Amino acid sequence: MSHEKFRPQYHFSPRKNWINDPNGLCYFNGEYHLFYQYHPHSKVWGPMHWGHAVSTDLIQWEHLPVALYPDELGQIFSGSVVVDHLNTSGLQVDQRKVMVAIFTHHKEGHETQSIAYSRDEGRTWEKYHLNPVLDNPGLKDFRDPKVFWNETHWVMSLACGDHIRFYRSEDLLNWTYLSSFGHEYGAHGGVWECPDLIRFQTDAGEKWVLIVSINPGGPNGGSAIQYFTGSFDGKMFKPDQSKEVVKWADYGRDFYAAVTWSNLAEPLWIGWMNNWQYANEGPTHPFRGSMSIPRKLYLKEVEGKTMLVQKPIEVTPLLKERTESECICLKPEHAFSRVIQRQSSFQATIKSGFVAFDLSIKGEGEQLTINFNPFKQCLKVDRTGLKLVQFSKEFASVDSMSVKYVNDFHLFIDECSIEIFINQGTKVMTELFYMNGDSFTLEWKANKTELQAKYRLEEISSIYEPALSHFEGRV
Ligand code: FRU
Repeated sequence: MSHEKFRPQYHFSPRKNWINDPNGLCYFNGEYHLFYQYHPHSKVWGPMHWGHAVSTDLIQWEHLPVALYPDELGQIFSGSVVVDHLNTSGLQVDQRKVMVAIFTHHKEGHETQSIAYSRDEGRTWEKYHLNPVLDNPGLKDFRDPKVFWNETHWVMSLACGDHIRFYRSEDLLNWTYLSSFGHEYGAHGGVWECPDLIRFQTDAGEKWVLIVSINPGGPNGGSAIQYFTGSFDGKMFKPDQSKEVVKWADYGRDFYAAVTWSNLAEPLWIGWMNNWQYANEGPTHPFRGSMSIPRKLYLKEVEGKTMLVQKPIEVTPLLKERTESECICLKPEHAFSRVIQRQSSFQATIKSGFVAFDLSIKGEGEQLTINFNPFKQCLKVDRTGLKLVQFSKEFASVDSMSVKYVNDFHLFIDECSIEIFINQGTKVMTELFYMNGDSFTLEWKANKTELQAKYRLEEISSIYEPALSHFEGRV
């Protein structure tokens, strides 16, 4: 597995065949559960199942058998899993708490919500005999239930085409409509999918964020995730931003359908690293699709606006080699150049955040380039210099996001993906790139004026060939 071309070495990917959205993220008895949209018979999207894996550290994953199969009510589309601590559903029969999956049944375009339960910590699942538990009121899109416990009862967010609906339940079995949000808010270039309503505790008190995936209509084309900040009174979500404002969680082309783990004190999420524009054509084999690095979520006030901040989890157990620099000085005529592994992390803090630079990941006659232009206040990722792009006419692109300064960045590279966290994770871009070669060359050069920085380069080992880290216990 570790030697397959473009096989991510520290990101989650299925052994074989197609995956899309993460589903049923739930932390229970020391295990992080990751279910996912899965087509076990093919590398293209097809009748959806829920695949399943568990991890104790979010890095090493144990693959488990398919958890949910399509049935007479339809395919198993996206949804969530909760632990029914108080046995509100009455499905618990002994001391062991029951995990309940709430998912969309999709049959010939008709979508309803159903549940399944597990009495053995997610190892086997039983569908509820009275499914569906929430019927379709006549909407074409009615899917991706994300459920959380709100003090005394359950709340479900549901994607309904151009808006999100909220429902309430005492027992997970019966649901009543609460309210709708979004017709007039945010981006509407495509269908709304995979919502998540997240509570944050901030210094200023409680804040809520509503996550909404949208496809197409992302800032750089195709799939992307927008979010709304505001309050939730148990019934309605009230945004604290005006209708036209759009906040994007990640400006790259390849971060979609991310949602948070349930049953955790602090918000943590993972996304599907792909874009519906070309997801079915990616040049990987025998699998197609992988997940992002898990990221912790925070809120931060930036220029009077509440912004979502993402911090990748530490990959400490996988760190092999680390190079740290004193202050280096990059001149326009002299590029910093290093051969790096295909699994690396590169981070830097820059003395003045307003210096223009190019940072390229190079192969044999090809490259992926990150360009920061402080005059245009723009950061771009350019995939047009890559050779392997023909699989889809949508793939080669120059993708951009507005960035005023770059004080620091942290890049995570793994075989065919790069995740770029700028300014402590306040701006993020995730992009796939398929480049040949045993290693890459990282080239960093200042444009126009000199740039002073300190960097840290880390080699990351493979989860398939774990080597004991030199850094264990040190970071
Ligand atoms: C998002 C999505 C969901 C749906 C699932 C189907 O990528 O379209 O809305 O439940 O994928 O696989």
